[in-house]
Amino acid sequence: MDDLIKKTAKDLAVSSKVVALTGAGVSVESGIPPFRGKGGLWEKIDPMEFAHIDAFMRNPAKVWNILIREMKDIVDKARPNDAHIGLARLEKLGILSSIITQNVDGLHQMAGNSDVIEFHGNFAWQKCLACERKIETFRVSLDEIPPKCSCGGILRPDCVFFGEMIPPEELMRSRKASYECDVMLVIGTSALVQPAAYMPVIAKESGALVIEINPESTPLTGSISDYLIKGNAGKIVKEIVTEVEHQMQSRKNA
Ligand code: OAD
Repeated sequence: MDDLIKKTAKDLAVSSKVVALTGAGVSVESGIPPFRGKGGLWEKIDPMEFAHIDAFMRNPAKVWNILIREMKDIVDKARPNDAHIGLARLEKLGILSSIITQNVDGLHQMAGNSDVIEFHGNFAWQKCLACERKIETFRVSLDEIPPKCSCGGILRPDCVFFGEMIPPEELMRSRKASYECDVMLVIGTSALVQPAAYMPVIAKESGALVIEINPESTPLTGSISDYLIKGNAGKIVKEIVTEVEHQMQSRKNA
């Protein structure tokens, strides 16, 4: 394990363009449950019944009551953990150029990363189904469910539901970042949802080193990723950043 941390730090320190692809696992230590696996959201509710756009359009009140209301409570309380903080530090050190995130919690921005591509949108905003006006989630009153815009239209989170397209600009920028990077860190994603899971494939096919950080292996492990550092994102990212700083300092002193 220590060897892998040292190797990763060395690879990062000499790389000219590092990109991170993050998933729900990166926010688990901030108190946001993942979707799949033990304790995952999809264990409690069926995504096709609550997270598909057709389900929302059929019965917005039901989706607001069961899924969105709880998400609002959880996301409101969440703060960046050591993984978010470590990735922000890697940007400050001039190593990490962008993050492609499947998360909608805004924690990478809160930690200080400036180029965050939000592949599945952002929960910080709600959008009116009628006039498309956007309203910050914290301004939305839950006295009436589903909440409405001042025009009377129903509000929906500005996130990608199942059955919806990835926002074209985010998809294009993610593909470009994956194509251009020389190291991709794949952190806390089950790599089961497309097209996000295809980004490491683009990186690999373009010659990048692909490093996974996850307590579990994924479909990328042993095929697309060069290696997996097994463990929780907070601890591993913190150790990598400490080692990167140590190596940079040693080089300066040499
Ligand atoms: P998943 O819930 O599918 O996977 C979470 C991953 O995080 C798993 O591989 C876990 O092993 C790992 N994990 C758990 N705890 C961790 C920790 N402390 N540190 C690091 N890793 C940890 O989440 P995503 O891959 O992000 O889409 O899911 C992708 C998409 O599926 C989501 O964006 C969402 C969902 O349906 C939409 O809502 C459109």
